[in-house]
Amino acid sequence: MAMIAYKCPRYRVTVVDINPRRIAEWNSDHLPIYEPGLEEIVKAARGRNLFFSTEVEKGIKESEIIFVSVNTPTKTFGAGAGMAADLQYWDKTARQIRKYSNSNKIIVEKSTLPVKTAEAMKRILTSEDNGIRFDVLSNPEFLAEGTAIRDLENPDRVLIGSSQTPSGLKARDVLVEIYANWVSRERIIISNIWSSELSKLVANAFLAQRISSINAISALCEKAEADITEVAYAVGMDRRIGNKFLNASVGFGGSCFKKDILNLVYLCRHYDLKEVADYWEAVVRINDYQKERFMLNMLNVMFNTLANKRICLFGFAFKADTGDTRESPANFVAKRLVEEKARVVITDPKALKNAAEDLEGVGGEISYVEDPYEASAGCSAIAVMTEWEIYAGLDFERIYRSMAKPAFIFDGRNILDHEKLYGIGFNVFPIGKPGLTHF
Ligand SMILES: NC(=O)c1ccc[n+]([C@@H]2O[C@H](COP(=O)([O-])OP(=O)(O)OC[C@H]3O[C@@H](n4cnc5c(N)ncnc54)[C@H](O)[C@@H]3O)[C@@H](O)[C@H]2O)c1
Repeated sequence: MAMIAYKCPRYRVTVVDINPRRIAEWNSDHLPIYEPGLEEIVKAARGRNLFFSTEVEKGIKESEIIFVSVNTPTKTFGAGAGMAADLQYWDKTARQIRKYSNSNKIIVEKSTLPVKTAEAMKRILTSEDNGIRFDVLSNPEFLAEGTAIRDLENPDRVLIGSSQTPSGLKARDVLVEIYANWVSRERIIISNIWSSELSKLVANAFLAQRISSINAISALCEKAEADITEVAYAVGMDRRIGNKFLNASVGFGGSCFKKDILNLVYLCRHYDLKEVADYWEAVVRINDYQKERFMLNMLNVMFNTLANKRICLFGFAFKADTGDTRESPANFVAKRLVEEKARVVITDPKALKNAAEDLEGVGGEISYVEDPYEASAGCSAIAVMTEWEIYAGLDFERIYRSMAKPAFIFDGRNILDHEKLYGIGFNVFPIGKPGLTHF
């Protein structure tokens, strides 16, 4: 919404949220999320045509177009628990919109939702005959955290799904006009509403599948003495495959991939498509396997005990350039290390506050240290969990001198110079390549 306000000064954009702390942060110098370039965009538009408020009722009444971007996490209770989308926030929002609306509105689904949710929204909105017309559009968000501003400014595509009725098509054209302020027309694509909803789930499933595919092969490389970087390079040179998204790692995280695939799996099961559901579910299973494999390898090579050893996690965010830690592999590894009675030290340039919140009540000995040199001092091992650029540029001779010996590095992102680290004295364990050990 900040990007829309920034690019289209003639629209007035009001962001409302039921969480007053978040709104206060959006109105302050300390935005609630870190995203390169976001602060500049917000500062340029805030107070001009971008406003943040907790007044949901007023926001609904005053707006002609309402983008619904509430959370749609995986359900943790009842039917479909652990798999289906929890639509309670979505449902509540639909009822709020119905209750407070006193003029016709266009409702835009921005949240990622199961197929046919727009129909449910429409039913709730029109269940009271108050003479108001609601047109529901699907406009899934394809931005990636860490590069959100770049992706919004120059998107691969903007997808708008609508019903094919005259008023549905008219509403679609209103939304097309907004994006056309800065996105070229050929990148604004239109479809029927169900295709639009499904495309978002499928895009995330394909992206996650690519990561799980290369990660599955990384396990084989470690056994077969092949090198995953060389394999990925050779495979990616094929233009039909392409070289993007082929970096093996400790596994994918983030709030979307797992939730959206499970959503897809649940939908397939709902339609009795067992084989299709099993196929996609395996993408999540490989990801869990990769995180567990990483952890068990640490335990195994560190002489089958981690008790009382200090282990430093380099990075806690689920990827670089974000402070978001939802479903981060570091979260999983930290908890498993605590179970093994290791003493865990976490360092991250942007995610320490979220890390501390995530691990509250986990027990064990966990500390949070911003400076990576201080964090790794006295540790037996470093595990690189996030591909922050700063880590590759650290002085590892200095770090080695300050660590307990033998010193280990587990590079869960393959971002370090492994030969060099080995030369310094570290025992080095990358992903998908043979380990380099001094014993
Ligand atoms: N995070 C991403 O990169 C990303 C990318 C694409 C799509 N999405 C989708 O966007 C949606 C939101 O994701 P997010 O990461 O921003 O989630 P989030 O949990 O960070 O934010 C959702 C916000 O909605 C607010 N909210 C809940 N109910 C409300 C109500 N009735 N009225 C007003 N505000 C309400 C919450 O307080 C919260 O601040 C999800 O469906 C997600 O799948 C997210």
